[in-house]
Amino acid sequence: MSNGANALTWTSSPAGPLHGEIRVPGDKSISHRAVMFASLADGVSRISGFLEGEDTRATARAFTQMGVRIDTPSASERVVHGVGIDGLKAPAAPIDCGNAGTGMRLLAGLLAGQKFDTTLIGDESLSKRPMRRVIDPLAKMGAKIESNGGGLPPLSISGSRKLQGIDYTLPVASAQVKSALLLAGLYAQGETRVREPHPTRDYTERMLRAFGWPIEFCEGHAQLSGGHRLRATDVVVPADFSSAAFFLVAASIVSESELTLRDVGMNPRRTGLLQALRLMGADIRETNAREAGGEAIADLVVRHVPLHGIDVPVELVPDMIDEFPALFVAAAAAQGTTRVAGAAELRVKESDRIAVMAKGLSALGAKIEETPDGAIIEGGALDSGEADSTGDHRCAMSFCIAGLLADGPVRVLDCANVATSFPGFLELANGCGFALA
Ligand code: S3P
Repeated sequence: MSNGANALTWTSSPAGPLHGEIRVPGDKSISHRAVMFASLADGVSRISGFLEGEDTRATARAFTQMGVRIDTPSASERVVHGVGIDGLKAPAAPIDCGNAGTGMRLLAGLLAGQKFDTTLIGDESLSKRPMRRVIDPLAKMGAKIESNGGGLPPLSISGSRKLQGIDYTLPVASAQVKSALLLAGLYAQGETRVREPHPTRDYTERMLRAFGWPIEFCEGHAQLSGGHRLRATDVVVPADFSSAAFFLVAASIVSESELTLRDVGMNPRRTGLLQALRLMGADIRETNAREAGGEAIADLVVRHVPLHGIDVPVELVPDMIDEFPALFVAAAAAQGTTRVAGAAELRVKESDRIAVMAKGLSALGAKIEETPDGAIIEGGALDSGEADSTGDHRCAMSFCIAGLLADGPVRVLDCANVATSFPGFLELANGCGFALA
């Protein structure tokens, strides 16, 4: 949010080297889905490593509103008393998804199949995000979803609709849209097939299978049919690669740094930044590679080395879609030119991330030119100054990293939403060498 009530300014001062061993909070995508599937399952599921962020807590609250008992025995743990696939109850009030596009889009699919009406609302940023991408294909399945003019939230979802399976090719690579359709497909007659122009994160597919729903999927394709049941399952949530990303960039660009990041989720549909940073010359080692809760995880050891600019391979874009704010900072600190293309989706995230990062980094003296679907960034020195995150959590954390290297303090505006995905960022960052206040 960029209104006064949420104005929180941080100052990130030049600092470093960065040292230590840290574990960033749990994966946001997995935490959202774990609450959803556990709520719809028969029996009691335990989620450990749950992200205590505002986004995922909003999703948990949504299910509490719909009659699901969710206990919190300790921080980052949830015990979910599933009500079964048809057991949700009409909420007494609109469901507030907060800042979470994932929450709203996945819930739109899931709620399209219920016997009761619901309304989904969100904060200022979410209220500007395009929902046609889920409304239109869900309507083809028989759903009735009314939006504010132009396909924006709030969404009014009618219940008691007869849904039909669909064979749908996504116009843009989006795990949220794919997941919304698969969730509606749980309640549809016949088969729902989703094809993607480029494979996206497959947590919905993997978790549905873990909860016992028959589903077939491979890269770029998923299909399931309605009429089955979900079986309670414990979920272990790995540390979020997207949160680890800020530290991968920070330790790469600050002299003499060496950081270890524990238990990081290494799903290949999430780790595009690792490849991009390595192309820029970064020294990041994967150690202790293992599996937890059906997901690949590893510890990442990152050491400073001078980075150089690259043309980011366009095929990496969907696998690093959330990491561009951090990548832009790495590029601004690198030698030479970095070009990003094929990333127009960045313009419809929590903010227009191309515009916000270009404006903020320019205010710090970086040479960065916006293009319709990316940016051209010349590496060089950064000045002290003020960068406005416009309430976008990932832009806010990225500007904090820029402050490490600037020639004086960087004031980062509108940081409250960092808590949507990364509670405790400030403390964790200061613990390994940032000077953030
Ligand atoms: C997400 C999918 C991506 C990503 C978002 C989380 C998910 O969005 O940017 O942070 O959990 O499915 P799109 O589906 O819009 O690409």
